Amino acid sequence: MHFLITGGAGYIGSHACLRLLDEGHEVTIVDSLRRGHQGAIDAIRSAGGDRVAFVHVDLSDTARLTSTLVDRRIDTVMHFAALTYVGESMEKPLEYYQTNLGGGLSLLEAMREASVRRIVFSSTAATYGEPPPEAMPITETTPQRPINPYGASKLQFEHVLRAECAALKDERPLAAVALRYFNVAGSDARGRVGEDHRPETHLIPICLEVALGKRPHLTVFGEDYPTPDGTCIRDYVHVEDLVDAHVAALRAIEPGRFKCWNIGIGRGYSVREVLESCRRVTGHPIPAQKGERRPGDPPSLYADPSAIACDLGWQAKHTDLDGIVRTAWEWMRRHPRGYA
Ligand code: UFG
Repeated sequence: MHFLITGGAGYIGSHACLRLLDEGHEVTIVDSLRRGHQGAIDAIRSAGGDRVAFVHVDLSDTARLTSTLVDRRIDTVMHFAALTYVGESMEKPLEYYQTNLGGGLSLLEAMREASVRRIVFSSTAATYGEPPPEAMPITETTPQRPINPYGASKLQFEHVLRAECAALKDERPLAAVALRYFNVAGSDARGRVGEDHRPETHLIPICLEVALGKRPHLTVFGEDYPTPDGTCIRDYVHVEDLVDAHVAALRAIEPGRFKCWNIGIGRGYSVREVLESCRRVTGHPIPAQKGERRPGDPPSLYADPSAIACDLGWQAKHTDLDGIVRTAWEWMRRHPRGYA
């Protein structure tokens, strides 16, 4: 099959490209390189040779997306391109809606024009907002009440996909799957691509940057949450398991149907537990300081991934936190300056 991968130069998109190439598929990457990296494209090219194409384009360019879909004879789209910082979305809501919702609309328009009717969309646990502790673990039917423009823009695009799948009198109805990711972590086992966010705001890479000597310490955002050790709890899912879920989702994609699944390991780890794991894996003391709570951080978020296990047989293989952290550390140790 031939896939269009939006955001293929980013963290998750680049891992998806490698997985699809490993399965023998072709990939055409579209990326604006605003947040993605040329280095990731180079790594994907060296893995896939002439089964990889790259088109440097912004999602707002519907005409170019359409011609790419037609010229490259695309069967299926995996849509990763997005702005993904919760905090930044509170400062620049318009940019978030423009990119995550507007960019998605442009892509769907191009897909309709080009008669490409299959899409797997990167959604997020941020669409659930701040469910109460008794709502844990989160199922797909937990009410979606996002508390920031990032989560809201992703949820709105889910609504658009759902409506487009159900469009009346559509001779070629859309087939769509939304995967709601929890906290994605780790790197390709073979070290071909990895995580390089600028700025970095995520817990595991920040701990590892301290171990590399790039930062003096970790600041723990709040130690007075109603959790066993007072720090926030999250569900960390390995990026390779996540891309496996995308491949599994392809088996379920059906014209005229919108489907969604949570992607997590089904248990949470606290910030303290993650810090301890990073200390064990790196052998570095990773100093930590107590900080204020970060606005918009729910105390606890973890998935009930049983729906996708039951429907598609997908289950995370990496359930050991040290194992997840180790793959992130391997890549970071070898690429202390990321793709730079
Ligand atoms: N944290 C710290 N110090 C830091 C960075 C993070 O204490 O320097 C804490 C946060 O407060 C949070 C936990 O570590 O409690 C995890 O934070 P991340 O920033 O790594 O991840 P988030 O849970 O905030 O966000 C992730 C994704 C979002 C997604 C969200 C949904 O990055 O895209 O999960 O669950 F929306």
